[in-house]
Amino acid sequence: MLKRILTVLSICVFMASSAIAGEQASEEQLKGKCMICHKRESPGLYNQWSESAHGKRNVTCYSCHQAQPGEPDAFMHEGLLIATLVTPKDCGRCHEKQRDQVAKSHHAKAGRILESLDNYLAGVMAGGPAAVNGCENCHGTKVKIDPASPNKLARGTWPNSGIGRINPDGSEGSCNACHSRHSFSKDQARRPENCGKCHLGPDHPQKEVYEESKHGIAYRAAKDNGEMNMGKDKWVAGVDYFRAPTCATCHMGATQNQESTHDVGTRLSWNLRPPVSKPQENGKEKRERMMDVCQACHGKTFVKGFYYQFDGLVNLYDEKFGKPAQEIMEILKKNKLLGKGAQFTNEVEWIYWELWHHEGRRARHGASMMGPDYTWWHGMYEVGKHFYMKFIPAVRQLSDKEANAYIDRLLASGWHKWFRNASPQETLEALKSGALAESYQPLYFPPWERGTKHSNWYGK
Ligand code: HEC
Ligand code: HEC
Ligand code: HEC
Ligand code: HEC
Ligand code: HEC
Ligand code: HEC
Ligand code: HEC
Ligand code: HEC
Repeated sequence: MLKRILTVLSICVFMASSAIAGEQASEEQLKGKCMICHKRESPGLYNQWSESAHGKRNVTCYSCHQAQPGEPDAFMHEGLLIATLVTPKDCGRCHEKQRDQVAKSHHAKAGRILESLDNYLAGVMAGGPAAVNGCENCHGTKVKIDPASPNKLARGTWPNSGIGRINPDGSEGSCNACHSRHSFSKDQARRPENCGKCHLGPDHPQKEVYEESKHGIAYRAAKDNGEMNMGKDKWVAGVDYFRAPTCATCHMGATQNQESTHDVGTRLSWNLRPPVSKPQENGKEKRERMMDVCQACHGKTFVKGFYYQFDGLVNLYDEKFGKPAQEIMEILKKNKLLGKGAQFTNEVEWIYWELWHHEGRRARHGASMMGPDYTWWHGMYEVGKHFYMKFIPAVRQLSDKEANAYIDRLLASGWHKWFRNASPQETLEALKSGALAESYQPLYFPPWERGTKHSNWYGK
């Protein structure tokens, strides 16, 4: 009797387990079919994947594209629930550290620009499709769900791989902004061309600045000679490669003293984006991290000398042009002289915008990364020319008493005197004797001293 019960039981167990095995086999098979079918349907995509670190380590299509019931972008595809989007949250299942560092970075927040002045320009002055095809392809869009779309994604918002994309699962960013699919390689991400998709052009020409710098020059030679070891797992500056730094070296890469990071802001002491530069929180510490990178290849005194010169330029732009222009604009706004309310309907606003957002940034970005042509010809030269010859005349045209008095005071002050209030001989004397150069000496101070012993000189 017992024997019979046992036999029946074991048959049941056998049947149950084989049923499970059967189910599993079919799901495994379905997962395997992704590769088989896509090898035929989209061979390029398949080959990118199969040659990649993921392909080699059996991280399959389904490992990344799997979805859970209830996810807004999930859909049935060849028997399994998948999603087309693979967000930082999805990658983070296996790459937790990178996910967390990206989430903390400014990159992840780059999609929050809808309220900005720049966005007003694209959305109002140009028009909707300009923002979709322009801004949002660098900054990231807010991906919207469209139940009628085959992959549930609204086609006005996807494809998109902007750096701060706002995803339906609440995560921010897209890892494939830097790790192009389906290779997802660190080799590619370490190259300056990679950052150059976004960091270029009239308002933030980091790529061009880098290319003209000694670093960019050394990089091109080293790359051609295969000396950058871009694909190496361990990539410590000064040790695994030493001919030249790339963007990734300085802003993300490992040294003998620090690990690599996916938070690109951890080594910056200034924020050079606004009309007047802003010191970063804990800027001193952050600068020390960057100096540690430089010291993989340079001496400490050299690096300190670089920062001394760089700070001088940032403070020069801010104190001589950035702050006065900003204060003049505030007077105009207060006295309601900028048209009937809509932004960018007045010439002064356009001139001012380009003064800080294009020319002023170019000067500062040039100095931060050793590009003298951007610091001067595309930078301070244009700032000066447009400040004196366009901005001030355009403000004068508005005949505002307060603004005019401000300008009169400004042009009578030390640094601006040469323009109207000093005789050419007087100015030449000051230049020759070194008195003029001497007057700029107080500008060489680091961001953490701003607002302490240093303040505005103009007007004095
Ligand atoms: C029998 C062939 C076949 C199989 C099996 C298959 N796919 Fe596809 N898949 C396709 C085709 C064809 C398309 C393109 C559909 C279209 O857009 O016309 C596609 C589209 C996709 C898309 C893009 C959807 C979009 O338009 O956004 C993803 C992602 C995808 N497949 C992933 C997978 C994954 C993951 C698996 C395994 C679970 C898989 N596929 C299995 C044929 C297949
Ligand atoms: C490491 C994760 C990962 C793996 C592995 C992976 N994908 Fe993708 N796939 C992505 C990401 C990321 C995107 C871009 C989606 C987005 O915008 O978030 C994508 C997009 C796609 C798309 C739509 C984009 C296009 O170019 O048409 C298809 C189709 C697709 N994957 C198919 C596959 C197939 C088939 C495989 C296996 C051979 C695969 N994926 C493996 C992460 C992955
Ligand atoms: C299921 C786990 C898993 C998921 C999901 C996953 N990865 Fe990976 N990833 C791996 C493994 C395993 C490796 C190989 C690690 C190694 O070689 O040490 C790897 C390696 C990498 C590398 C290094 C490649 C190289 O050149 O050596 C990058 C970059 C990367 N993954 C990015 C991503 C991104 C971006 C996503 C999301 C779109 C993602 N991964 C999703 C498991 C995963
Ligand atoms: C080519 C890629 C690209 C395009 C197109 C682009 N941006 Fe940017 N934007 C950037 C980069 C890169 C930065 C950061 C520059 C830096 O740090 O020096 C930036 C900075 C900004 C900032 C400053 C953010 C801050 O933290 O201070 C705003 C706001 C902004 N962009 C909005 C826009 C809007 C709106 C548009 C469209 C009208 C646009 N951008 C078009 C790449 C782009
Ligand atoms: C701004 C560009 C950028 C973005 C965005 C980015 N990465 Fe990376 N990633 C890199 C660079 C550069 C490296 C090489 C770092 C090094 O070794 O110096 C790298 C390396 C990696 C590696 C190899 C291991 C390591 O840390 O060196 C993994 C894994 C990885 N990234 C995953 C991710 C994931 C996941 C995301 C999204 C959450 C992501 N990355 C977003 C640029 C980026
Ligand atoms: C030799 C090291 C080095 C290299 C190479 C380098 N940078 Fe920088 N970068 C710096 C320094 C130094 C600063 C200023 C740091 C500070 O604020 O203290 C900076 C600042 C920046 C900023 C902040 C600008 C702002 O508006 O505040 C961005 C963005 C940037 N770099 C992007 C890049 C990109 C993209 C590349 C490659 C094309 C690159 N960097 C190459 C060292 C480097
Ligand atoms: C897809 C576009 C895109 C790519 C690719 C990209 N960035 Fe950025 N980056 C941005 C935008 C946009 C911002 C400004 C974000 C903001 O302030 O809102 C930014 C900001 C930065 C900053 C300033 C961060 C801070 O905290 O102030 C640094 C440094 C930087 N990026 C370096 C890099 C490097 C290095 C790479 C390549 C490894 C890279 N970026 C690739 C778009 C991009
Ligand atoms: C991987 C090595 C490496 C790293 C890291 C590095 N540099 Fe350089 N740097 C070089 C090389 C090589 C040159 C070209 C040498 C020459 O001018 O003869 C150079 C040149 C320079 C120059 C121009 C010198 C001149 O005489 O014209 C400056 C300034 C500079 N680096 C500053 C920095 C700063 C600041 C950092 C860190 C933010 C840094 N470098 C990081 C390798 C590096």
